[in-house]
Amino acid sequence: MSKAEAHTVAPPFHPTVAILLRPAEPDDALCLGVLATQVWLDTYAKPGIRTSFAQYVRSAFASEAMLALIKQPDVRLVVAECEGHLVGLAQYTLRRPPPLAQPCEAAELDRLYVQEPFTGKGVGARLNARVEAECVSLGTTTLWLQAWTGNARALAFYARHGYADVGTTFFEMDGERHENRVLAKSLSSTR
Ligand SMILES: CC(C)(COP(=O)(O)OP(=O)(O)OC[C@H]1O[C@@H](n2cnc3c(N)ncnc32)[C@H](O)[C@@H]1OP(=O)(O)O)[C@@H](O)C(=O)NCCC(=O)NCCS
Repeated sequence: MSKAEAHTVAPPFHPTVAILLRPAEPDDALCLGVLATQVWLDTYAKPGIRTSFAQYVRSAFASEAMLALIKQPDVRLVVAECEGHLVGLAQYTLRRPPPLAQPCEAAELDRLYVQEPFTGKGVGARLNARVEAECVSLGTTTLWLQAWTGNARALAFYARHGYADVGTTFFEMDGERHENRVLAKSLSSTR
């Protein structure tokens, strides 16, 4: 597969522009962090902004943090770009098996984020397909992720894309435990 693969996807306002998928580069760190902040807050800060949410996004999505991720050998970041603007990202980590699983060549899909105006147009499907194809080419047999039980749209998306529910994990913030579903997909049938 070529590093940059362009397809036309109907975007929200300009029906003829193309969405380009490409690996993230160090110069993307600032925009990636801001995009991730926007999508994270839209998805998880439903009650509004409080200190723990603000601290989390400022720390996890700081430019330095994104740059460190881009440079980490086992971490891969794919960006979706529309006319020079970042509109989506996929981040995965190689050689990280799911909890309680038999040892296997697995990768965790850490983040799949599409900016809200670009959702429902196939960008998420393309990012997911790109990650799967890259994982297969790197010899990874399983792709897995953790999704919050309150995120019905994401759970439906992953079910439609062939991920099976294989367990439970918890994300803790402010002393509260938030249940995640562990979803996994065997990539052997996509070879
Ligand atoms: C979950 C998420 C990644 C899905 O991304 P997306 O770009 O909206 O996904 P898609 O557009 O590929 O698919 C969603 C639906 O849009 C519609 N759709 C897809 N392509 C379309 C197109 N070309 N034209 C019109 N509608 C389309 C379909 O209804 C599709 O459902 P399907 O899978 O049954 O076909 C996205 O909603 C998101 O980023 N959410 C916020 C962050 C999040 O929750 N991430 C996951 C954390 S675990």
